Amino acid sequence: MQTIYYDLRDTKGQQKEIEDKISAAAKILREGGLVGIPTETVYGLGADGTNPAAVQRIFEVKGRPQDNPLILHVTGAQWLPRYCEDIPPVAYMLARKFWPGPLTMILKRQPTVPDETTAGLDTVGIRCPNHPVTLAIIREAGMAIAAPSANTSGRPSCTTAQDVVEDVGGRVDMIVDGGPCTVGVESTVLDLTCKPPRLLRPGGLPVEDIERLIGHVDVDRAVTVSLGENERPGAPGMKYRHYAPKAPVTVITGSPMKSAKEIERRVGPTSGVICFDEYAHLFPQQLVHPLGPRSDKQLQAQRVFEALRSFDSSGVTEIYAQCPDNRGLGLAIGNRLKKAAGFHVIDADSRRIILGLTGGTGAGKTSALNALRDLGGQVIDCDAVYHEILEGSEDFKNAINEKFPGVFTQEGHLNRKKLGQEVFAKRERLDQLNTIVFRFLIPELERRVEAADGLYAIDAINLFESGLDRLCDRTVAVTAPTELRVKRVMARDQISEQYARLRINAQKQDEFYRGKCDCELNNASESPEEFRKEARLFFERLVETVQEEKRHG
Ligand code: TXA
Ligand code: MG
Repeated sequence: MQTIYYDLRDTKGQQKEIEDKISAAAKILREGGLVGIPTETVYGLGADGTNPAAVQRIFEVKGRPQDNPLILHVTGAQWLPRYCEDIPPVAYMLARKFWPGPLTMILKRQPTVPDETTAGLDTVGIRCPNHPVTLAIIREAGMAIAAPSANTSGRPSCTTAQDVVEDVGGRVDMIVDGGPCTVGVESTVLDLTCKPPRLLRPGGLPVEDIERLIGHVDVDRAVTVSLGENERPGAPGMKYRHYAPKAPVTVITGSPMKSAKEIERRVGPTSGVICFDEYAHLFPQQLVHPLGPRSDKQLQAQRVFEALRSFDSSGVTEIYAQCPDNRGLGLAIGNRLKKAAGFHVIDADSRRIILGLTGGTGAGKTSALNALRDLGGQVIDCDAVYHEILEGSEDFKNAINEKFPGVFTQEGHLNRKKLGQEVFAKRERLDQLNTIVFRFLIPELERRVEAADGLYAIDAINLFESGLDRLCDRTVAVTAPTELRVKRVMARDQISEQYARLRINAQKQDEFYRGKCDCELNNASESPEEFRKEARLFFERLVETVQEEKRHG
């Protein structure tokens, strides 16, 4: 069939002409046709989401498995009650903050949504894309547009209209060119039908941003590992081999310097390489597709699919891909690369283990850290690092001074007490301070562990709030019965029982740490020496497990 191609990259031109094209696209959709549509994430293949026959054509054209549901695209939260039931208040909170944008919410569906769209599930995925052309088309069409990514099944997603032409040209009614996608990876899929909400697919909206608004979010296992035969992912689409170029892909994780060296050791003349710009020069004989600078995840997200597609016309026999860490957009970029590799992942940091330790006062974190030192581990005290970099960095000082004028002395030293008073009582001020501190602290910690081997422990009160947990191979909650903690704090700090309780209650409770950490080290021992021994055994076993995992991927 003839596919109409509409160029709407520039919407500042002839208004009449643009409106006509948008009306024409909406008309095709209303009549049950298929239209390739631009969004900020990736291109979609749109059809009337309430029309079973139209939806069925999407599955045929994409060659999509029938059990993989489609998401509905709407123009705002006001559309939710038309398609969903039992909508929790967080859905509206999230929509207010992140729509239009790369967030798909899974909600209970109304009977108005046909089985064909949801693959028979009683839930439906909904999102409001952030692209003026597509929003105008949906508004004009007057119904929700069902749209999966426009690639044929198994291929990398399309981030330009040209990609869409390549994959489904001649088999759809129209392709609307809205320019290259600015985000570059698909939306984040969040299931709101369970508590806590569950991340089913990492995407263009970092999970940290969601957690800042609504608190802890569980991460579906399918996001980070290859599932076993009998396991089912929360999002049916996550189980399919995906994004795969023709040549087999190997993903190398780890600190950028080490992963680049690891790739250098492995490549041959017919290898293809996906790497950060800084390391492209290491591969003069190979075909290289640079992802962008190592610290620019936004650019890496924009380029990851193009990179995976680019090798297909080249004849490379294998592809090595350097993988960003899991923080921010890194989780989505890494997930796409790992899926392309069928989760064939090698960790260049296999000789380095980082444990993150956290827990309330009096639980025994200090003894636990000593146990790690007994095992030859090095402890990184985040509070100390913070003060160290503060002394040496004018930028850091200026950033704090701007938000907290007057907390530095004439000689430029921090008046800790004064700053403490400013943030102690006000949650909002503390958050402001933490945002600044984390911005400077995290790159410094990354730098310190980058080239390192061996065992490291990160000692941080705000392990999760800072995002430092994502630097760790395992996070450990040190917990203890409250009565024991009270006794210990009284003895250690020479304070009254009442004050000790006050201090303990002012902090996060064990439940919080238990819920967030990968494992728990409970200290119910009366003697610190005894606990130190127990902790040593605990860490010995943990290190063995992590090493084993790193060896076998
Ligand atoms: O950014 C995006 O989300 C793009 C653009 C076009 O909006 N669309 C997209 O759709 O990526 P698709 O179909 O390629 O991926 C949707 C994912 C699939 O993994 C699917 O299994 C999952 O969302 N999904 C859809 N409805 C679901 C539901 N009711 N429950 C669980 N997972 C669902
Ligand atoms: Mg897709």
